[in-house]
Amino acid sequence: MSVYPEYMQESLRRVEETRPARLGTNYPRLPLSEQEELLRRYHPDYKPEGKRPLRVGSSYGEPVPHEVADLLEAYPLVDPEKIDLSQVDYDVDVLVIGGGGAGTVAALWAFYSGIPADRILIVTKLRHGDSNSIMAQGGIQAATKAHDSPAIHFLDVMGGGHFTNDPKLVRALVEDAPFIIHWHEELGVMYDKEPDGTMITIHGGGTSKKRMHSCKDYTGLEIMRVLRDEARNLGIPVLEFHPAVELLTDEFGQVAGAVVWSLETEEYKIVRAKATVLATGGWGRLHIQGFPTTNHYGATADGLVLAYRVGAKLRDLDAVQYHPTGAAFPEQIVGLLITEKVRGLGAQPVNAQGELFVHPLEPRDVESAAYIRECLPPEKGGRGLGVVTPTGMVGVWLDTPMVDILHGKGTFQRALSSIYRMYIRFGIDPTQEPILVYPTLHYQNGGVVIDEWGWTGIPGLFAAGEVEGGVHGKNRLMGNSLLDYNVFGRKAGMAAAEWARKVRLGSLSLRHVERFVEELRRAGIPEIRRAPKLLPDYRGQKTLSRVMDLL
Ligand code: FUM
Repeated sequence: MSVYPEYMQESLRRVEETRPARLGTNYPRLPLSEQEELLRRYHPDYKPEGKRPLRVGSSYGEPVPHEVADLLEAYPLVDPEKIDLSQVDYDVDVLVIGGGGAGTVAALWAFYSGIPADRILIVTKLRHGDSNSIMAQGGIQAATKAHDSPAIHFLDVMGGGHFTNDPKLVRALVEDAPFIIHWHEELGVMYDKEPDGTMITIHGGGTSKKRMHSCKDYTGLEIMRVLRDEARNLGIPVLEFHPAVELLTDEFGQVAGAVVWSLETEEYKIVRAKATVLATGGWGRLHIQGFPTTNHYGATADGLVLAYRVGAKLRDLDAVQYHPTGAAFPEQIVGLLITEKVRGLGAQPVNAQGELFVHPLEPRDVESAAYIRECLPPEKGGRGLGVVTPTGMVGVWLDTPMVDILHGKGTFQRALSSIYRMYIRFGIDPTQEPILVYPTLHYQNGGVVIDEWGWTGIPGLFAAGEVEGGVHGKNRLMGNSLLDYNVFGRKAGMAAAEWARKVRLGSLSLRHVERFVEELRRAGIPEIRRAPKLLPDYRGQKTLSRVMDLL
């Protein structure tokens, strides 16, 4: 018996009726002009009321979402006068802030570059591995096969990012990609393979070649399993439940570690470090424009705040990635990720009438805009062809039974086992019944400006992973975030090790924080908000799954 209410089942019958005609055909790819029109009219990034220009700092005047501006223009958590910088609790060569993929890779490559394990320290807000890295499902891109090349991968990344990416970073990303897959294999990552040992590669949205390598639909978890084991085996110390609340500088203006806060003992600790790698991840838990999110609990943009206060430049923060297929029903899983791999394996998005309305693998921003157009009511310029759930959420169908029809019974359970399990728990068998989806906040496209070695332009400060910007321009393609954190985590770790070997630190200071506060006051910004945020606060918030109210 179906758990969908009768009116949703009625719509599902139309999906079933249109399925035979849809099998083996697809919606044509949109020409560039139509993509641009769709984005302009329906993508949330194009709503001018969603952003405001920054009033302080090195990216003064640049538009960013209000939720982000609120943090970048907030006052510090710490009072510099009350922090005793003469008491150093940890003294290391390389401090890595963030215990997700980028941080772990940076620590590993600092070690491989000659820094002893006990001269490296990872500090992390939650537990080692709690991050978006472990939640990534669909795969990692790399041009490892003869039909492909880093040059073609380069063009796909640049096109996906609307040619706003930093080409130097994209080149570094695609050229190192095959090496990263090889390194993972040596460490023990179990990528999906054919019986003869050939790596299985599939398409992702916006890719011109099949270059997505995956481990079922828990690619991120599998890669992180192996990286974390390697870090533990090497004895790299990790301080869990210790978020960084401020960077430290020295008298020469070099970054020299961080002030961290113990969530357990509620004390500040001083970490002096010759080099610091920022690997704090992104901003999903800011719920920009009220969207639900795929992100882990700690994704509150802390790194952006810290970097901004020492003068790092930010870029492309006006570009928010909404993943087209967040779960929209049942209520308990609203916003959770339904990997693009489902569409990569042939599932089509269809509206309440069972009509296919967009190619399933357009670049993410275009795909999301098409779903929003389908769901918006006509009085708001949409087609009004979404399905509204009993709790007021809205979505389109993702015709998941097509996966087994196209590839054979058992494919869905084998290739998409975590999605299968997630739905079975709620009485929905995605091999028999389609699932309802709607865009969900997924990724921070921009971030801290870096060079090819992850250097931020601030002496002693490097950045890697979702916190940095430029690699993806205004829109990241699927499978390039796992790649990004590996490529730039590695480079930042190596560069930090080299920096640590030659730098001489002066006395520690929080003068940059005092200067930032002075700037906030001069700009007339009232002292009502503090940052970094550290953890999301849901008390008193509008229920995020009621997207209908927010449209
Ligand atoms: O759809 C996905 O599996 C997500 C992958 C990504 O964001 O790279």
